[in-house]
Amino acid sequence: MSDIHSGSPAVQVRLATPADAPALLAVYAPYVHQSAVTFELEPPPVDEFAERIREVQAFGVWLVAEVEGTLAGYAYGGRFRARAAYGRTAETTVYLAMGREGQGIGRRLYEALKRILALQGFRTLVGGIVLPNPPSVRLHEAVGFRPIGVFHNVGNKFDQWRDVGWWELDLGPLPPDAPLPRPVSALSQSEIAEACAAIKASANRLIHLRQDIVAQDAITERNPPVSG
Ligand SMILES: CC(C)(COP(=O)(O)OP(=O)(O)OC[C@H]1O[C@@H](n2cnc3c(N)ncnc32)[C@H](O)[C@@H]1OP(=O)(O)O)[C@@H](O)C(=O)NCCC(=O)NCCS
Repeated sequence: MSDIHSGSPAVQVRLATPADAPALLAVYAPYVHQSAVTFELEPPPVDEFAERIREVQAFGVWLVAEVEGTLAGYAYGGRFRARAAYGRTAETTVYLAMGREGQGIGRRLYEALKRILALQGFRTLVGGIVLPNPPSVRLHEAVGFRPIGVFHNVGNKFDQWRDVGWWELDLGPLPPDAPLPRPVSALSQSEIAEACAAIKASANRLIHLRQDIVAQDAITERNPPVSG
């Protein structure tokens, strides 16, 4: 089945769970073995990969894309740095099953990722790309990331020195005393479903989403929920 508007395959985006670990690892492991797009030299064991999914979902969000029930790729926004002041910044990444490139699936995943991370209350997204990687650079810039700079010779894989370029995306203003992002489990089913169905989130739409969050937080502060 294909999307009648774009001719691209019908893609379903949903939240990942630790039970997806074997299928997600099957997407990731070939890149570890065959490419330098990741600096891991050996794929992690499946239980460690499941733990990564749990850790990311506790902080940001991990999404999977399915095409006709088959897992076609994933994207996530996880912790950028452990230090507390980085708590409103997420580092994003995306991998498609080999052979699924160039069909708009990366863009679908990233549009959904942006919306969910904005709804959670993140301020800035950052992405590191091992260079050269034109499809990844193109995808990041197509969804609004802008290039920041390049760290030279920071990696060495397959006996070759590797540069890493960094890109950032501004999710829109938040007050300086903005609360830490909400866990994805605090979002409603309809917020997640709407974000996962997003083809393209305009900057204005993201800013409106944020205004809703700020307004809701102000209401909650004025009228804290009654416990007990
Ligand atoms: C990078 C990757 C996620 C891109 O996803 P994708 O589904 O192939 O990209 P899309 O089809 O959604 O295309 C997004 C944009 O990138 C462009 N693009 C895709 N493949 C491209 C290529 N090979 N060369 C140049 N541009 C390319 C598209 O034209 C589109 O731009 P546009 O909207 O301006 O036309 C995918 O190629 C992949 O999984 N690569 C291997 C893993 C990897 O490198 N991950 C990134 C780690 S930083």
